[in-house]
This record gives sequence, C-alpha cells and structure tokens, in this order.
Amino acid sequence: MTDLLQHQIEYYSARAPEYDRWFYRQGRYDRGPAFKRQWESEAQIVREQLLNAPRQAQILEMAPGTGIWTEQLIRIGDQVTALDASPEMIAINKAKLASDKVTYIQTDLFTWQAQRQYDMVFFGFWLSHVPGEKLSAFLSAVYEALAPGGRLFFVDSQDRELSHTRTETENLGGELQQRVLSDGRRYEIVKIYYDPAQLTGTLRDSGFEIEVLSTPKFFIYADGVKPI
Ligand SMILES: C[S@@+](CC[C@H](N)C(=O)[O-])C[C@H]1O[C@@H](n2cnc3c(N)ncnc32)[C@H](O)[C@@H]1O
Repeated sequence: MTDLLQHQIEYYSARAPEYDRWFYRQGRYDRGPAFKRQWESEAQIVREQLLNAPRQAQILEMAPGTGIWTEQLIRIGDQVTALDASPEMIAINKAKLASDKVTYIQTDLFTWQAQRQYDMVFFGFWLSHVPGEKLSAFLSAVYEALAPGGRLFFVDSQDRELSHTRTETENLGGELQQRVLSDGRRYEIVKIYYDPAQLTGTLRDSGFEIEVLSTPKFFIYADGVKPI
C-alpha cells in the first residue's frame, strides 16, 4: 500500500506539466467539440454550486494540484491553505495564481493531521484516489479539520468510460488503474468511481450532513456541513 501511494505521488508529479490538458480536454484528451461543450457546461454546474455561498474566512484545499479549483476558492475565501504532496504541482499552482491569499504546504494527506479547524474543506478529484481501506480514516481527518457548522464541498469523476483519455487508461480490476503519460511512462494508481447514494451514506455515517449529486454525465459533487 505504501508503495502504491508513493507511486501515486510520483505519477502526479510527473504528470504536473501536462495535467491541465485533461480538464480543458486538449491534446489526447480532446474528444471533439460536442464532448468539450458538455464537459464545460457540467463543470459550470459544479462551479456555480461552489460559488453560490457566503464568503468563508479560512478554506482548506486538499490535493489542489495545478489550481483549477484553487482559482475558484480564492473568489469565496479570505485565505486558502493548499496541501499537496507534489512540489511540481505546488509550483505550477503558485505560478498560475500568484495569490497572496494562498498558503501552500507540501505534505502527505495520509499522514497529515489538522493543527487548527477551517470554515470550509474542499477537494477536487481527490476522494477517488483514496484507497477504500483508508476512506474512513481520511473522512475522520476531514471531520476534525472542519469547524462545527463548516462547509464540506468536493467534486470527482462520475464515469470510468468518459472521464479520461480514450484508449490509454486501463482498469486493472478493483481500485487500480494504469495511467500512461504522454511520453509513454506508465503508473499504477488508485481510482474509485463512487455510486452517489452509497457515498452519501458513508459520508453521513462519518458525521456530515451532505448529499452526493451527479451532473448529467461527467461529475459527482457534494456540498454539505459538519453539524454544529
Ligand atoms: C487528480 S489530482 C487533483 C488536482 C486538483 N484538485 C484538481 O481537481 O485539478 C490529485 C492531486 O493529489 C495530489 N496527491 C497525490 N497523492 C497525494 C498524497 N498522498 N498527499 C497529498 N497530495 C497527494 C497530487 O499531487 C495531485 O495534485
């Protein structure tokens, strides 16, 4: 397990310079204009839900990557603390946003423990990389990191067929996928596609008042609270 999680960090570090092509559906992720329009309109549904909320003083973003969502979080938060294990991801995020609202911490989320509580916790396309056996401990760490009444929001992938490249991602069975970078390097990572109703139950069992919703094809997202 430790090797797999380390491999996952190495994969995202190596992928950092080409990561945004996935979200913006460019290069080998381009599946044509109709696909891209649909993807963008569904991303907009999630963004609107995220932004449609009162300002938060302190936001914690777990696994911010290149900053696709950090860019949104600085619109609704006074301060964002961004935790990622990859220095390459952090460097790109920092250079893109150049925002004094964001504090970056390079850390492994599987060993990290909150030193304070935040008004909101956000993670994008991260929960699907948390191994099933570590989900409960991860959700406890999120619960501890949130102040009572604080907001939890996340977004992730809905459908294994639709969300990645057309041919190169290979499902290896169970929670494992093989990913291939543009230069041909191969990595084995965790990727879990959750059923929204089941995940809602798991989150509620972990203490959150929350519901996991789906956009028509591509994303699942959840917006809820840690009860007071
Ligand atoms: C799929 S990307 C998501 C990036 C961003 N949230 C987004 O939606 O575009 C996963 C991120 O998790 C980070 N990551 C992988 N393993 C990690 C770990 N053990 N601790 C902290 N971050 C990790 C990677 O460096 C990468 O930035």
